[in-house]
Amino acid sequence: MIEPLIVFRGIKKNYANATILRNVDIALYHGKCILLSGNNGSGKTTLLKIIAGLETPSCAEIEFSGKSLSWKKAIQGVRKEIIYLHQHPYLLSGTVESNVSYGLRFTHLNRKQLRDSVKEALNWAGLADVAKHKAKTLSGGVQQRVAFTRAWILKPKVLLLDEPMANMDLESREKACDLLKRMKSEGMSIVITSHDTNIIDGLIDSHFSLSDGKLD
Ligand SMILES: Nc1ncnc2c1ncn2[C@@H]1O[C@H](COP(=O)(O)OP(=O)(O)O)[C@@H](O)[C@H]1O
Ligand SMILES: [Mg+2]
Repeated sequence: MIEPLIVFRGIKKNYANATILRNVDIALYHGKCILLSGNNGSGKTTLLKIIAGLETPSCAEIEFSGKSLSWKKAIQGVRKEIIYLHQHPYLLSGTVESNVSYGLRFTHLNRKQLRDSVKEALNWAGLADVAKHKAKTLSGGVQQRVAFTRAWILKPKVLLLDEPMANMDLESREKACDLLKRMKSEGMSIVITSHDTNIIDGLIDSHFSLSDGKLD
């Protein structure tokens, strides 16, 4: 049996009097993509943010590296492996190239390594032609690919994408999807939320639906 990379168990989340997540278990696997669907307000963003360590659950456990600990104890260790991408990723006002290299600002690469690494990433994503363009002047689909690339260059184990395909035309979806499939083949674990369940052929390995605070 294939071991999961990381498991979140018994996630509960309340806001004031409202229970958003009741008892959610979710296991993430290397090189696999989960689709998380559910109506607006069903808690998809809340769940991703808890997985990313950006929102605190009322309670939850994490199994990682052979240990099972409370979310609070384990999250510091796992959050560095996980990147959460907002539906409208924040891009800097500079070029595509500078946006992609921004992700590497805290690494210990020298200038040449940094340049090579950014170049490799831009080629990987098919963005070399627009490297010198101002990122914010490009179409939404291309901006989304810039954001994916900025995440990819950091080589997270887990990538969480909140409604990444909303407002994209078919061609942009296909291109975005192609990048995500390649990330998967490199071993990355991906979770995508969408209220549209028929997103992309060949990308999704398992599909769960969130409703009434539960995952089915
Ligand atoms: N910070 C917050 N304070 C109070 N309620 C919140 C907060 N964030 C989200 N909610 C509520 O939690 C529910 C789930 O929200 P969300 O996770 O954004 O759902 P989805 O992403 O599926 O649309 C909604 O009813 C929303 O109003
Ligand atoms: Mg949401």
